[in-house]
Amino acid sequence: MHGTVPFQVYASVAAKCRAAAAAYAQSALHGICEQTDIKALIRRSEQTVENKNIAAAAMCQAELRQNDRIFKGVNMFEEYSNLTLLDHPLLKHKVTRLRDRNTGTNEFRAIIGEIAMLMGYEALRDLPVENIDVETPIEKCESPVIAGRKLAVVPVLRAGLGMVNGILSLVPAAKVGHIGLYRDEITHEPHEYYCKLPDPIEERVIVVVDPMLATGGSAVDAVNLIKQRGGKYIKFMSVIAAPEGIRKFCGAHPDVQLYVAQLDRCLNQDAYICPGLGDAGDRIFGTK
Ligand code: PRP
Ligand code: URA
Repeated sequence: MHGTVPFQVYASVAAKCRAAAAAYAQSALHGICEQTDIKALIRRSEQTVENKNIAAAAMCQAELRQNDRIFKGVNMFEEYSNLTLLDHPLLKHKVTRLRDRNTGTNEFRAIIGEIAMLMGYEALRDLPVENIDVETPIEKCESPVIAGRKLAVVPVLRAGLGMVNGILSLVPAAKVGHIGLYRDEITHEPHEYYCKLPDPIEERVIVVVDPMLATGGSAVDAVNLIKQRGGKYIKFMSVIAAPEGIRKFCGAHPDVQLYVAQLDRCLNQDAYICPGLGDAGDRIFGTK
């Protein structure tokens, strides 16, 4: 936008921004944006009209485009019945610690483990239980224990490794499989280099863990590999997801429950999640 811009353009951008701000407020309810974002958007829309500010108008338009993606994100929770947002305040707080570029390897690793445990606690709430007899110091009674299918945790290498201990602290007897995938830096397509799963896998509840769901390619392939080997009862846990990845995953595997702690805005040109936390593998293992 440059040169002489008619007043109607500013007014129309401002009107669109106000409408967007209302919808934006809705997305704040889902924890996707903050109240401060909404205030900033309204302030900028008003600035557009009052000052006939070309730069502000351009920024509003950019923000509108961004909002568009956010609203699509909000709808995703209605669109996909296999998608669950785990937005407990403790998870939100810990995700913010992960995002911070100044959070060092030690702390990052510890927090990823804590997040995995908190997410696992929720994701495993449908585990079946059965009553057993137990004798308390007071009397005998029946009391429930976890029953039925055994659990397998399957991290997607490398970054998924950081989430394994969090799940094992909840279910110490779980077996651990591994799937090795790396993303091609240019095409962003996943490439398989390793797959070893507990055998037999058919009857197990399988929790696949990978902190990042970006394009969704790795997650889709990981679940494909498990299904090809007979896995049936699969859950997928990801700390931060982009809308693109959720669409791809939920479309490809509608039978797999996907749990995320944070839905972010979009991917950048390198297919990194924005705002994200950077390269999860590098931050967990200190390789950069
Ligand atoms: C990261 C991450 C996921 C994948 C997500 O792994 O841990 O596996 O990228 O991206 P996608 O949704 O676009 O497929 P990466 O390939 O960087 O390997 P690493 O963990 O070994 O660093
Ligand atoms: N993998 C990561 O580790 N981070 C991203 O943002 C995307 C893929």
